[in-house]
Amino acid sequence: MIPRIYIPGDSGALALGAEKVAKAVRAELAERGIEAKIVRNGSRGAYFLEPMVEVATEKGRVAYGPVKPSDVKSLFDSGFLTGGHHKRWLGAPDKIPFLAKQTRLTFARCGINDPLSLDAYKSLGGLKGLQNAVAMAPLDIVKQVTESGLRGRGGAGFPTGIKWKTVLDTAGERKYIVCNADEGDSATFADRMIMEGDPFVLIEGMTIAGIATGATKGFVYIRSEYPHAVAVMNKAVEVARKAGVLGVNVLGSPNAFDMEIRVGAGAYVCGEETSLLNSLEGKRGVVRAKPPLPAIQGLFGKPTVINNVISLASVPIIMDKGAAFYKDFGMGRSRGTIPIQIAGNVKFGGLFEAAFGMTLGEIVDDIGGGTATGRPVKAVQVGGPLGAYFPRGLFDTPFDYEEFAKRDGLIGHAGITVFDDTADMLKQARFAMEFCAIESCGKCTPCRIGSTRGVETIDRLAAGIEPEKNLALVTDLCNTMKFGSLCALGGFTPYPVMSSITHFPEDFKPAPARVAAE
Ligand SMILES: Cc1cc2nc3c(=O)[nH]c(=O)nc-3n(C[C@H](O)[C@H](O)[C@H](O)COP(=O)(O)O)c2cc1C
Ligand code: SF4
Repeated sequence: MIPRIYIPGDSGALALGAEKVAKAVRAELAERGIEAKIVRNGSRGAYFLEPMVEVATEKGRVAYGPVKPSDVKSLFDSGFLTGGHHKRWLGAPDKIPFLAKQTRLTFARCGINDPLSLDAYKSLGGLKGLQNAVAMAPLDIVKQVTESGLRGRGGAGFPTGIKWKTVLDTAGERKYIVCNADEGDSATFADRMIMEGDPFVLIEGMTIAGIATGATKGFVYIRSEYPHAVAVMNKAVEVARKAGVLGVNVLGSPNAFDMEIRVGAGAYVCGEETSLLNSLEGKRGVVRAKPPLPAIQGLFGKPTVINNVISLASVPIIMDKGAAFYKDFGMGRSRGTIPIQIAGNVKFGGLFEAAFGMTLGEIVDDIGGGTATGRPVKAVQVGGPLGAYFPRGLFDTPFDYEEFAKRDGLIGHAGITVFDDTADMLKQARFAMEFCAIESCGKCTPCRIGSTRGVETIDRLAAGIEPEKNLALVTDLCNTMKFGSLCALGGFTPYPVMSSITHFPEDFKPAPARVAAE
């Protein structure tokens, strides 16, 4: 049997040098006259181990990582093609603690095989959900998704089945499925990872959404910073079309569904659903007032499902294994699993899919291993740039939509950024206001003007000018932004600002004392 070597080709692994490793492996194979097949798989998400090279042996896959090009010669000398021992030896990939502790439902296939091989996708259980869906009535598909408890993974946590039901019930000569792959939150890469590592699961999920709601056309709106994901998705759509997964007769059924990939223009606010729809229509990415909801009047004024990548990519397993299977994972009203993206100043950064319910402390300390710098963790921002900063005192918060809301936080797209004790939370609060000022679409006053006034006020605080008055002013401003903004960009910016003030008051003390303390 020809040896098979797996070297990830996703942008995360490439950024860590996977291409140079692949080149060194090819050169070594040629020099030693060994015939082998190199498979460019996606990443399994343990980015602290990337580039992670795997070989298929008689006893199963064996992983090595993180591999540097300079390791390649000695890997061959150690007999790595048959799983030989080496300083980079990690053993069976599914036994690596970071991977073994996960519950992989949505990411079950990600990183295992060539992402563009439909045969590999099918051999690992792909298309079973769609096969079930084509034999069902649309309302039954919607019911199954509703009963699974799946909520939108883009940030708002809105029940996916209810959104689909609205589109199903709304008459329209044309309906659309729009996939939100703008993934603008800091620390997030789950959408990119699955589009690059298992693109067919998203295609399958969107097709099921189409059949369930009567939509025949889908668009994936991918941020321009993701050229690799765009390329993989375009190729995957082509493969799916040729294989009859997409087209006028999906899997030979009377259902028609096709899709296209669109590249975003590069603005955080274009991830907001109505702004995204404007952008997709070729207009400026400005937020639309709601109502009408996109489900009633969305893309080009037609009933539209707009869902995040992970929401849609979680549908195939629900349609394959059933609503009860999926719902069995999780806690409270947060059902199923969530791909937590651990980033920032952290030792073991990567994607960790788990059932809802792990505490923040378990995620940061046990899974993430604490900070990369070895200093104490000071704060963790959960949910992207609009998420709250949690201090160690709130590390007992379970990963659950309602539990985070109770503590004035949010899960968002489940990205977490870890900070050590050198972080200055006043600077982080200023950054939140500045981010909002730069990214504001400008449609409403609390966000457009409030964020700029917020930066100025925090600057005065930092300079020690009338601290009590300016602190009260920031708080007042945050209330105006929270309750008066049209969308969550202005409405949620108060979360990082107020959590910094509430949990880290020492960082907001007057400037002379700050200087003296430093
Ligand atoms: C400023 C802003 C940026 C957003 N960015 C994203 C994004 O990048 N990706 C995403 O899926 N949702 C984003 N959202 C949430 C979307 O508006 C919307 O709730 C989501 O796409 C719906 O899909 P879901 O129900 O599957 O989560 C953003 C919202 C706001 C207010
Ligand atoms: S809150 Fe900001 S981004 Fe949202 S509509 Fe208002 S100005 Fe635009």
